[in-house]
Amino acid sequence: MKPAAVKPAFDVEEMRAQFPILKELVHSKPLVYFDNAATSQKPHRVIKAESAYYATINANVHRGVHTLSTKATEAQEAARETIRKHINAKHAHEVIFTSGTTASLNLAAFSLGQLLLNKGDEVLISGMEHHSNIVPWQLACERHGAKLKVIPITESGEWGLTQMPFSDETRVLAVSHVSNTLGTINPVKELIAEAKKRGIVTVVDGAQAIAHLNVDVQDLGCDLYAFSGHKAYGPTGTGVLYGREDLLDRMPPWQGGGEMIDTVTLEKSTWAKLPFKFEAGTPHIAGIIGLGEAIRWMEDYEMTAMAAHEQLLLEHATKELLAIDGLRIIGTAKTKVGVISFVIEGIHHYDLGTLLDQQGIAVRTGHHCTQPLMDRFGVSGTTRLSFACFNTVEEVDAMVAATRKAVKMLR
Ligand code: ALA
Repeated sequence: MKPAAVKPAFDVEEMRAQFPILKELVHSKPLVYFDNAATSQKPHRVIKAESAYYATINANVHRGVHTLSTKATEAQEAARETIRKHINAKHAHEVIFTSGTTASLNLAAFSLGQLLLNKGDEVLISGMEHHSNIVPWQLACERHGAKLKVIPITESGEWGLTQMPFSDETRVLAVSHVSNTLGTINPVKELIAEAKKRGIVTVVDGAQAIAHLNVDVQDLGCDLYAFSGHKAYGPTGTGVLYGREDLLDRMPPWQGGGEMIDTVTLEKSTWAKLPFKFEAGTPHIAGIIGLGEAIRWMEDYEMTAMAAHEQLLLEHATKELLAIDGLRIIGTAKTKVGVISFVIEGIHHYDLGTLLDQQGIAVRTGHHCTQPLMDRFGVSGTTRLSFACFNTVEEVDAMVAATRKAVKMLR
């Protein structure tokens, strides 16, 4: 992403007013929320949409002829269509609702494992994956006698691709669009194009991209794309697995139960059509409606304007933090979203996180569910800031000042 050359096309104060939680005090200090990569805060519109479902149309979907069930079904399917348009999927039935990226990737790994993996085959991931894009593939490889291969990570936190990393045995490429720990925006489109030439199925973990980039699944050319609602201003417990129709049609179901079947006898069952084949059980209807509203809300503000604002914060915070003695940023890729992971010589990230919290500043500390990446950089954990559209330069300055104060106390 290019550095922001323009002022944000929205008023940050007006933006902040839409997030009720930003009025909260933490340890009697105004909340500074820099943990958006873990979960973003929710605008009033999303909270209202979710509670309106319970207050006015609560009923199960796709199951009844009664009025409430019809209204709930229409609201849920409207959210599916909103998401389809937002990610530019060809068909609404290519949008499968899950409980989050983790569930989406487990679905992908289980089902693709059954469909594609045999003894000696390879699944290719990268060394910066979140545990949810490592462990499901390890499980699938164990089940089918396949091997996991890993793209190495450079010192700047990018894919180390000196040559194409595929072999004749590679069946699946599963990589993150944006690193949750480093903020790196990966060149997924280019790698997918190479994978496709070789007939390899491509899976993208878009958990950290969906709130910061314009995601166009047809332009990316991926077969599957996973993301969560709660990192994109939507409710927790919601997620999506986008899949190309012809691949989804061939993939076996992941979970069995109500709604995913066409017919059931005690001997054998047959599967419902897409997307229901992959949506066993009652979905998180309220959450899905909230997610649809979150996407409509983001579109009102334009992703590029939000992203430009976050780039300003990233540049400012990077410059100010690097002026602190002994501070090292882990993840210095040329293209990043607003995520900064850092370590400070002689100071444990947990101690720093605790002192920042006392100043009302929320950051994430630890390994960020990327232990192999921590091993790659030889650290046990980092302090991570992750920005959203409602954060301000003043908040960055407050965090830098609080970090300097903490360093003095801890050294
Ligand atoms: N994956 C989330 C994070 O990076 C939880 O914090």
